[in-house]
Amino acid sequence: MRSVRSRGVAARAQYSHAGAAHNLLFVARPAPERRTDLLALYRCLSPEHRCPLAETRTKIVFGSGNADADLMFVGEAPGASEDREGLPFVGRAGKLLDQLLSEIGLDRGQTFVANVLKCRPPGNRDPRPEEIEECSPHLFRQIELIEPRVVCTLGNFATKLLSGRPEGITRVHGQPQRREIAGRTVLLYPLFHPAAALRTEAVQGLLREDFARLPGLLAEEGGAQGGGEAEPAPPLAPGLREPPPPGAAADGPSLRQDRPSLREDSQLGLFGSPG
Ligand code: URA
Repeated sequence: MRSVRSRGVAARAQYSHAGAAHNLLFVARPAPERRTDLLALYRCLSPEHRCPLAETRTKIVFGSGNADADLMFVGEAPGASEDREGLPFVGRAGKLLDQLLSEIGLDRGQTFVANVLKCRPPGNRDPRPEEIEECSPHLFRQIELIEPRVVCTLGNFATKLLSGRPEGITRVHGQPQRREIAGRTVLLYPLFHPAAALRTEAVQGLLREDFARLPGLLAEEGGAQGGGEAEPAPPLAPGLREPPPPGAAADGPSLRQDRPSLREDSQLGLFGSPG
């Protein structure tokens, strides 16, 4: 899937901020290096993630998939199945996501799937502002490390957070928007949440139509890294801890000894092959 992007070279993206045009110089980092940092983020987040939902969650759902994916999906929050398994979109909504991906010739291994919240809100209630504020730095860091070209937001919460705008999903679904997120220009592509599509047939039809445009969007983005005008992303929420240097946490004994139930292999096995 990632065939065109040049790696390890400086690239220049244009974006506008507060009405003024800026040049943003970013250096595309090699995939193995970014994958290592993603693993470090996972390992440092897992035992220490003290969000307001820590008391009621079963497992943290970090996200899973290809650490070098061009395509990323961002949902709302883990549900009951995800909370049990520690993986995103493994319930009915996840099955629909898999189905829609297969209809356009893709599978999960070519994407990275994460959520705005890493812990399940009790009873699947809506995420609260303070929970979003606590969790969103981890999502922004994931986007920074994975360097997707296209980010599909699933539903209202992810769309509003990553677009930085109040318009809801009914108004903006299927409308690609160029955004500057975590220091890079990405194509944001808002989609209805699969759970909403399971409830309403008409919504499922719209979601399927929007999905059908994804291959074309990905192809268009393939050769045009940072090519368009982007609006500034919402500011990063404070409080993101930097992961330890690569390797520092990876071999530490604490993770395996203290958290034997953590299914690290299944969480991380899909992260893409270490280079
Ligand atoms: N709904 C979400 O938003 N995320 C999941 O992981 C599962 C259901």
